[in-house]
Formats: sequence, C-alpha cells, structure tokens
Amino acid sequence: MIASNGYKKIAIAVFISGKGSNFKSLYKFSKKKNSKFKINLVLSNNRNAIGIEFAKKNKIKNKIINYKNIDLAEKRILYILKKNNIGLVCLAGFMRILSRKFLKKFKGKVLNIHPSLLPKYKGLNTHSKVIKNKEKYSGCTVHYVNSKLDSGKIILQKKVRVYKNDNPKSLEKRVLSQEHILYSKAVNKILINL
Ligand code: GAR
Repeated sequence: MIASNGYKKIAIAVFISGKGSNFKSLYKFSKKKNSKFKINLVLSNNRNAIGIEFAKKNKIKNKIINYKNIDLAEKRILYILKKNNIGLVCLAGFMRILSRKFLKKFKGKVLNIHPSLLPKYKGLNTHSKVIKNKEKYSGCTVHYVNSKLDSGKIILQKKVRVYKNDNPKSLEKRVLSQEHILYSKAVNKILINL
C-alpha cells in the first residue's frame, strides 16, 4: 500500500482492552490516501473487547494475549510484532502497563492516547477529577510511552471546554470525539520523516 507521498505505508499495531473506538477511527483514517500508516494487527488482553469484534468483521488480523504471566505475555507480543513487521504500536485504551524491558526493545515506537491535558490528571477517572476540581478546560493528549505512567514526550494535545453542567459521562463523550481526530493526526505527524 502506498501513501500519498509515494512511500510505503508504515504497519502499525493497535493494542486495546475494551470498546476500541480509537482503534476504529485509526482504521478509518488509515484507509485515506493521506494516511502514512496501515493497521496490520490488533492485539488485546481481553478476548471480549468490543474492538476485537470490529477487527474480525473487517478482517484485520487480531490476537488475544493471556496476561496471567506478564513476562511470557510480553515475549509473545514482541514475537508477534516482529513476525508482522510492525513499525509502530498505538495503545488505545490498553489497560496494561508495558515493562521497561519491553519498551527498551521497541524504543521510541510506542504511542498512547490519554483523556486529559497531560501532565495533568494521569491515571484513571480523569473526567471525575477534572469536574471535581472545577477545571475550565480538559482535553486529550497523544504521547510517546516511557516506563512511567502517562509521562512520555507529548506529540499533540487538543483542548476541550468543560461546561458547568457537565458530568463525567458528558465530558468523556466530548473528549473522546476529539481523541478520534487527534490520534490519527499525531501518528501521521511522527511518520512524516520516515
Ligand atoms: C480513551 O478515552 C483513552 O483515552 C483512554 O481509554 C479510552 C479508551 O476508549 N485511555 C486511558 O485512559 C489510558 N490511560 P476506546 O477503547 O473507545 O478507544
């Protein structure tokens, strides 16, 4: 597959644990001519992840990883990534932490999306915390993954207004719709020089 710049598209793997709506939007974007990437693989620690259904329906290669033993799980993931010539990993609601050892082997090639304006509100329940603290703005961030939670170098961010009558659900919905635009933009941005 050739991107609009005439180069071969980079093969990416998306790691999910649940709904996979970010994976779906990455997939839709990857079909466009100006996309510099294609999705060759979807991987999940959860066999009931809704995103896996979508992968099956669209004939995207998918793998379920048993995470009972983290060391073995990561060894298997590395093997699968290599076998499928994956050049970049995009975490999209993947609720497992990748070890320092794993990240060293796939250095600078793992991205994540987080539903806050990092470095604010790392970790879980971001929208509840944002509302509780009466923030005027929240948003989302795409960043490189390092061994500290939600802490790697930021690639792109998008601000989202928090309204007085927002609750965690309404804010989550508005932030998520921006995540769907931001993630593909960020992936294309870092691939520009490859
Ligand atoms: C997204 O909001 C993503 O930012 C968040 O999980 C959701 C996954 O939704 N990720 C994190 O909180 C990671 N720290 P999705 O499965 O519909 O893409």
